[in-house]
Amino acid sequence: MAEVKSLLLSQADLIKTGVLDMPKCVDVIEEVFSLLGKGDYIMGGPKENEHGQMIFFPEEERFPGMPVAGPDRRFMAMIAYLGGRYKVCGEKWYGSNLKNHEKGLPRSILTIILNDADTGVPFTIMSGNLISAMRTGAVPGVAARYLSRSGAKVVGVIGGGVINRACLWAIYIGCPTIKEAYLFDVNPNKYEDFAREIKEKTGIQVHYANSIENAVRPADVITVATSGEVFPRIEKEWIKRGCLVTLTSAADMDLECFTENTVIADNWKMHQAFIADGKEHPKGIDALAVVAPSFFLLKYVDVGLYDASRIRNLGDVVNGDDHGRRNDDEIIILVTGGMPVHDIAWSYHLYEKAKDMGIGTEFVFFDKPYWK
Ligand SMILES: NC(=O)c1ccc[n+]([C@@H]2O[C@H](COP(=O)([O-])OP(=O)(O)OC[C@H]3O[C@@H](n4cnc5c(N)ncnc54)[C@H](O)[C@@H]3O)[C@@H](O)[C@H]2O)c1
Repeated sequence: MAEVKSLLLSQADLIKTGVLDMPKCVDVIEEVFSLLGKGDYIMGGPKENEHGQMIFFPEEERFPGMPVAGPDRRFMAMIAYLGGRYKVCGEKWYGSNLKNHEKGLPRSILTIILNDADTGVPFTIMSGNLISAMRTGAVPGVAARYLSRSGAKVVGVIGGGVINRACLWAIYIGCPTIKEAYLFDVNPNKYEDFAREIKEKTGIQVHYANSIENAVRPADVITVATSGEVFPRIEKEWIKRGCLVTLTSAADMDLECFTENTVIADNWKMHQAFIADGKEHPKGIDALAVVAPSFFLLKYVDVGLYDASRIRNLGDVVNGDDHGRRNDDEIIILVTGGMPVHDIAWSYHLYEKAKDMGIGTEFVFFDKPYWK
């Protein structure tokens, strides 16, 4: 049978299928960290650890209509093979532009394709926004499960957008002793909806913090996910002993924040690949500001101020090959750049459920190949 068909899954289909099941998502993402720790995956590039292939837009319009650089403006193809019980290839493909908000659109718009790893058949194509937001949040969720201090109660939330909703929700799943959160967003209008949704989903009381400092100081766990060109500045004195700081987007932090504390990465090899990409860009490492949440750390590593051999990986902690947190005083900084293996795992889980539930629309690419 030479038919090639795909199951199309819209956002509405995925909601019926359980895309918003955060406890399950955190478990699935934890399983992916275990596979990462064992090495049962391949991402793009010769070193098998590229975050993705990005279109960097030029500063000036070279031809009429050619896009130019702007805040959070990029296109990115994120590709991977994931082993374990998955054994599929997949891609998340997205465009991001902060100006989308002016059109009532989310900052980024994402599509996920999963392919049979032997034949390349694209057996499902789906809306990627919720999948991506959920899997992104689930990473600090897994980190909170393994690395937060015992009895952690308060989360400092920097940025009240789409991604940090998912992060805070997942942190609560990973660390159910959380009771309160302090949100700082440069746009205070973000507070009300954010607080209401989080209260509904988790029972956590979210307060508005009128500065980054006021969100950071009381926090046992910090989650940073802001967009745009002004990175939140976090002073090391503000960070409480025992805090877990999760950087889903970049925070401007001094070298000592990293040298005096423990750094754990989602996959340090991917961050090394960011550095290699930066070196090939005319703007150098600074070009990574638009894509790498580890940006400030990468700058220190690049100029030899930080010894990257100290950085450990969350997959090793999950597998018990690394000790994780040592005591309730240790400050741990998690850098997470986002990986296509996470998109593949969560979307594959949903695809299997959609098939069982009879959800989605079948699209036939061809019933028999015109040429072969
Ligand atoms: N690591 C990953 O896996 C991953 C995945 C997806 C997105 N991201 C990153 O997460 C970030 C947030 O994405 P989003 O979709 O939620 O964006 P968004 O635009 O929906 O929300 C970002 C929020 O940050 C606020 N903000 C901007 N600058 C701020 C500052 N200096 N201090 C406090 N608040 C500030 C904005 O007002 C906005 O409410 C982006 O940088 C994105 O690239 C990371």
